[in-house]
Amino acid sequence: MNDTEAMLQAIDLAAAVRATTAPNPWVGCVIEAPDGRIFTGATSPPGGPHAEAVALAAAGEAARGGTAWVTLEPCPHVGRTPPCADALIDAGIRRVVVGIEDPDPAASGVGLQRLRDAGVEVEVGVEAPAVRLQLAPYLKHRTTGRPWVVLKLGASVDGRTAAPDGSSQWITGGAARADAHQLRAVSDAVVVGAGTVRVDDPSLTVRHVEGADPLRVVLGRAAPDAKVQPALEFEGELTDLLDQLGQRGVLQVLVEGGATVAGAFHREGLVDQYVFYVAPVIFGGSDARPMFAGPGAPTIADVWRGAFSAVVPLGADLRLDLLPALDPATAPALPVGRAAGAAEEPITGSTPAVPVDLPLPADDHLQEDR
Ligand SMILES: NC(=O)c1ccc[n+]([C@@H]2O[C@H](COP(=O)([O-])OP(=O)(O)OC[C@H]3O[C@@H](n4cnc5c(N)ncnc54)[C@H](OP(=O)(O)O)[C@@H]3O)[C@@H](O)[C@H]2O)c1
Repeated sequence: MNDTEAMLQAIDLAAAVRATTAPNPWVGCVIEAPDGRIFTGATSPPGGPHAEAVALAAAGEAARGGTAWVTLEPCPHVGRTPPCADALIDAGIRRVVVGIEDPDPAASGVGLQRLRDAGVEVEVGVEAPAVRLQLAPYLKHRTTGRPWVVLKLGASVDGRTAAPDGSSQWITGGAARADAHQLRAVSDAVVVGAGTVRVDDPSLTVRHVEGADPLRVVLGRAAPDAKVQPALEFEGELTDLLDQLGQRGVLQVLVEGGATVAGAFHREGLVDQYVFYVAPVIFGGSDARPMFAGPGAPTIADVWRGAFSAVVPLGADLRLDLLPALDPATAPALPVGRAAGAAEEPITGSTPAVPVDLPLPADDHLQEDR
C-alpha cells in the first residue's frame, strides 16, 4: 500500500467511530504485514483498546516487520489502556506513518520519540490537512480547553428561520432533519435558547440515527416539565459556558438556535463551523425571524467571510458547511458544488461533520418535535 492510500483508509476507519469515542480522539489504523495482508483498527469506546491495539490484535504475529499507518501520534502514556507506542514496538512494527502529532501535552512528540528510540522508522505528516480537519474538535479541545462549536440552523432560501408567529416546524424536509440528528449524535452537548424552548418545546435527543443523547444545555431557564429536561440551565458569559463544557470533556457542542442565541455566538466569534440547511422556501418578507438577531456588521468591510467546506444536496434541501477562511497552506482540497448533470451523490469535503450518506427515514417518521 502507498502512504496516501493507507492513510485515507485510516481516516475512513476513524470516521466510522466518530460518534463513540469522546472524550478520546477518533483514530484509525491500518497495518500491512510483510506478506501484504492488511489489518485495520479504530478507537473503541472509552476504556476500550485504541486503534493501534485493535489492529495489532487482528494482526497478531503477522505484524512483525510490518508498517502501521495511524491518523494520530500513538499515545505514550498508560491511561485506561496500555501505551500504543510500546505496543507497536513490542509487536515488531518496522515503520510507523503518522498523520499528525498529538497536541495533548501528555503525549505531544513523546510517542514519536519513543518509537524512534526503539529503532522504528517514523514518518509524520501524511494527509495531515485532512486528519487535522477530521480531528478539529479534539485538537481545539486539547489546545484551548474549549469544545469545537458548530452552529446549525434550518433556513429558507431568503434566510429566515421562523414565521412571524414563531412557527418553524418544518422549513426543511426529512432528509435534512435526519442529517441534523446525525450531527447531534456526533456532538457531546447541544445548546438552545430559552426562547426556542418556550415556542417549540424541543426534546433535543438523538432519534432516527444511532448515537447517545448529548448533554442538553438551555441558555436561560426551562420549565420543569419542558421536554428538554433534564437540562443544564446556564446564565452567564458564553465563554464561561464553553470553558465549563470543555472541563466536562465536551469536545463538540452543537448550537441549535434560535436567532438570538445564534447572533450572540456569532458576534462573539465563538463559532468554528456553520451548518445551514437551506430549503427551497421563501417567506418573502422582513417580518419572519432572521438567522441572526441583534446588531450585525455595520458596513460591508466588516462582514464575516468564510469558505464553503461542503455543499450537500439532501432531498429537496441543501446542506451548506462554512468554515472561517482556511489557510491555503494547510487546507485540503475540498470539493464544493456539483457539476451540472452529475449523479445524485452527496458531495462532501473532509469536514469534521461527516454524516451525509444516511438511509432516509420517511418524512412521517420525523413529524415529531426537535
Ligand atoms: N429554523 C431553525 O433552525 C430554528 C432553530 C431554533 C429556533 N427556531 C425558532 O426561533 C424562534 C426562537 O428564537 P429566539 O431568537 O426568539 O430565541 P432563542 O435564541 O432560542 O432564545 C433566546 C433567549 O435565550 C436566553 N438567553 C440566555 N442567555 C443568553 C445568551 N447569552 N445569549 C442569548 N440568549 C440567551 C434569553 O432568554 P430569556 O428571554 O428567558 O431571558 C433569550 O431571550 C422560535 O420561533 C423557533 O421556532 C428556529
